Amino acid sequence: MTDTILITGGAGFIGRYVARACLERGHRVRVLDSLIEQVHGDRTQADGLDRDVEVVVGDVRDEAALLRALKGATKVVHLAAEVGVGQSMYAVDRYVSVNDYGTAVLFQQLIDNPVKRVVVASSMSIYGEGLYKDPDGRVREDVVRVARASESDPWDPLDEQGRPLIPAPTPEWKKPALASVYALSKYVQERLTLTLCPAYGMEGVALRLWNAYGPGQALSNPYTGVLAIFASRLHNGQPPMIFEDGQQRRDFVHVEDVAQAFILALEHEEAPGGVYNVGSGQDRTVSEVAELLSQAMNRPMAPEIAGKARIGDIRHCIADISKIQQELGYKPRKDFAEGLAELAEWVAKQEAKDLVNEARKELEARGLVA
Ligand code: UD1
Repeated sequence: MTDTILITGGAGFIGRYVARACLERGHRVRVLDSLIEQVHGDRTQADGLDRDVEVVVGDVRDEAALLRALKGATKVVHLAAEVGVGQSMYAVDRYVSVNDYGTAVLFQQLIDNPVKRVVVASSMSIYGEGLYKDPDGRVREDVVRVARASESDPWDPLDEQGRPLIPAPTPEWKKPALASVYALSKYVQERLTLTLCPAYGMEGVALRLWNAYGPGQALSNPYTGVLAIFASRLHNGQPPMIFEDGQQRRDFVHVEDVAQAFILALEHEEAPGGVYNVGSGQDRTVSEVAELLSQAMNRPMAPEIAGKARIGDIRHCIADISKIQQELGYKPRKDFAEGLAELAEWVAKQEAKDLVNEARKELEARGLVA
């Protein structure tokens, strides 16, 4: 069935891919986006969106803009958010305002103008540390990262006997452990959606996204995802700057696979009420992705290892994607090497301001790198 889908934050990196995927499925698409400068630079137009997408420029906290954007909408994808974990630890009012008050305003309007389904972009960051196993194979689900007392302390969490714990794929049942303002704000978005939708006859779905990457990432935003930051550094002839020791693990998922997950969450009859992890199912270290990206970009350059961590960052969190595979039929399709090659090809044609040193100084000045 054809829907009119409102995508909040739809001019952003993930939103543009979700918009395209929705159009390909025959839906009508409207985007509400405030085109913030940190992401969109000084552009006043939503670049990169298909011409068939209707654009409403406005802030998700602005009731009047939301009302206009919601007119005739039958489903909503809620992506409008501030997304930097490190930045959230000092721009607290902005993060809580955009992410949580913004979601509250959206639902305030949805109470009077309900839609069939709302899909919210949550984040793996809500898990805090992912699931671990100890060297005897026992599962540990309550690992909390503690700051290192000295530079000789290991980066990895340890068990009671001082043995390093091994990261294991994290399923949806792991309890949240909110280690940053960003994580807290994303969890609030998720809970608002899953609490309010059923109360007002709407269907709610939350997708917990891992680290999305691909062409179109905001290259000049120093608070964007690590792959875009590394790409921007290399493009400007600078080495990637790696926090900690580079052995921290994540799951990098191609943005087209993320868009696939959104389509399933929007259309699948089993999705309502559900919370789903969205990743590639493969995990990699930050050092490994720096290396592979510099090869793909043909810019061999040894990374700079900071040996310090951003406060609020988690050490390891990798995705268990079996629930979305089994219940919704999700299949990650993009091979990582192919995805990186495409990213490299795209970056080569872009201009990217390298603002990473400024961003690091902002964090350091506030004692948020240690
Ligand atoms: C990212 C997203 C977050 C999303 C989450 C889902 C951003 C800004 N954050 O958070 O919105 O919900 O994925 O998984 O897109 N690192 C470096 N050097 C850098 C930058 C980062 O070594 O220049 C390291 C970080 O310290 C961290 C890892 O790379 O260990 C990943 O960082 P980042 O890309 O910011 O992702 P997440 O914090 O996982």
